[in-house]
Amino acid sequence: MKRNWIYLLAVCLGIGILIGYWQYRENEGQRQSKKNSIRIGVLLYRGDDTFIGTLRAGLEDKAKEYEQKTGIKVKLDILDSKGSQNTQNSQVERLISLGCDALCINSVDRSSASIIIDKAMDAGTPVVFFNREPVEEDMNRWEKLYYVGADAKESAVLQGDALVDAYRKDSRTLDANGNGLVSYVLLEGETSHQDSLIRTEWSIQTLKDGGVPLEKITGGIANWDRSQASALMEQWLKEYPGQIELVVSNNDDMALGAIDAMNRAGIGANSIKVVGIDGTPVGIKALEEGTLFATVESDKERYAQAIFDIAWSLSLDQDPKSVVPLVNGKYYWCPQRVLTQEEAKLLKNK
Ligand code: GAL
Repeated sequence: MKRNWIYLLAVCLGIGILIGYWQYRENEGQRQSKKNSIRIGVLLYRGDDTFIGTLRAGLEDKAKEYEQKTGIKVKLDILDSKGSQNTQNSQVERLISLGCDALCINSVDRSSASIIIDKAMDAGTPVVFFNREPVEEDMNRWEKLYYVGADAKESAVLQGDALVDAYRKDSRTLDANGNGLVSYVLLEGETSHQDSLIRTEWSIQTLKDGGVPLEKITGGIANWDRSQASALMEQWLKEYPGQIELVVSNNDDMALGAIDAMNRAGIGANSIKVVGIDGTPVGIKALEEGTLFATVESDKERYAQAIFDIAWSLSLDQDPKSVVPLVNGKYYWCPQRVLTQEEAKLLKNK
């Protein structure tokens, strides 16, 4: 009899604990979803990079849009790391100490992401890396690490395809002197950036696979930068007068730098074709004006939206997978497309 009572008491106690725990979870859930403000820290490898500037503007727009839609106040702290990984590391510490709910990081040196990851893991602050992809080993260190970017091989293949199409329609478009070879120069981004290496390899490979007879005149690293590219092109135009028919550039800003040098030398877009990647507003303007031959545009609205959506849901303790289609649970790849001069004009007249 006494044993039955003890048994009953233990069962009641167990049920009581379960109910208590369930209520606690319920209140916790309500408390979390009732957050009325969130704070998101954004770090940029360089604030003066044109493409990164368009993503920054996109993030600011999304923050305003979501604030209006949901009534949840969004505080965005955007800091420029000015090309220094040390500065960025201290900025990470500062943003964590300010109580950021999530960090969006465009790291300076992608191979040093582990320092940032250590700090974020210690503080329990989730991180959305973007545009400069940490190595897989680092990305797998914690489940609260995400990456948003545009697939570098895809950009390059699209760039190459645009040129192959043009060559097949009329070989003289690229082989201006008609000697049976397309003589090109190559402008490359930072050596440490995954996009530079992969874009270079696959643009040229796609041209070769597409049957375009190629001759490389020279190439150089201009670190995504318009003025560095312009200086290189100025030098090449002097060293190889009348020989360059095509400039393959890893991004739009360097392509525009090459066009600046061509303008200074009085060389028109008819004799040298220039192609870029990014579809920045200045790049698209050059397409419309007919100085840039083609570019590969990444959908910057969706790019910024994906970064923001992931940071937003993590800040509200929600699962990002329910709002963003993630590959392997942590990667979002932004869609891209070729933009030619005709398409840019059509878009403008829409
Ligand atoms: C590339 C982009 C470049 C530059 C670079 C910075 O993806 O094409 O223009 O912004 O990222 O990391």
